[in-house]
Amino acid sequence: MKPLLSFKKGSSRFIVLVHFADIVIKFPIISFCHLFKMLWLFGIKRYDKKVLGYFFKMGYRYDRTLRWCLCRGILSNRYESEYFRRNKNQFCWPTHSFLWIINIQRKSDCNSINKEWLENKIKGIVGDDIYRDVHTLCNPENFCIDSENKIKIRDYGSKGVIGVLMKHEHLLCELQADLK
Ligand SMILES: Nc1ncnc2c1ncn2[C@@H]1O[C@H](COP(=O)(O)OP(=O)(O)O)[C@@H](O)[C@H]1O
Ligand SMILES: [Mg+2]
Repeated sequence: MKPLLSFKKGSSRFIVLVHFADIVIKFPIISFCHLFKMLWLFGIKRYDKKVLGYFFKMGYRYDRTLRWCLCRGILSNRYESEYFRRNKNQFCWPTHSFLWIINIQRKSDCNSINKEWLENKIKGIVGDDIYRDVHTLCNPENFCIDSENKIKIRDYGSKGVIGVLMKHEHLLCELQADLK
């Protein structure tokens, strides 16, 4: 018998798959572990301005900062839901959000997407723009197949990916799964 719920961990969110309702709920991950590590480091090096400055730096490039530890999942939920709400990009798997604390999507399937095939196809369309977020765009787990056999992206919670989607939306929408 299928379980009622199952769980997955992404790069910035914890996912609950609610099988009986056919939805997934994405909760932001808060990295308390890294937060305490950083705080501990300041305990030892509290007079080191460089360490302190780093901790409060903003942006994804500075991982393990205060913002990274606390907010990266919330930011992912926000980028994903706001982008979908404003643009309704056909390549995106629909996302709905409640205060960016939870994002809700319909459950979808990525089982038959091959990694190399996906990488070649995406690269063929977006070219070097793939390097704006190569980890997301080359991972089949971040995509799914809809009822018309078209590929859709279900993890678009980063500025890099959104930049690529905005630029190449029309071609990406045509990506057909059965061309493999
Ligand atoms: N709509 C969905 N249906 C089924 N599984 C999903 C769905 N969205 C995400 N998942 C699963 O949860 C994992 C993490 O979700 P994802 O949106 O990629 O979060 P993150 O931004 O943290 O990487 C994915 O790799 C995928 O396996
Ligand atoms: Mg992901």
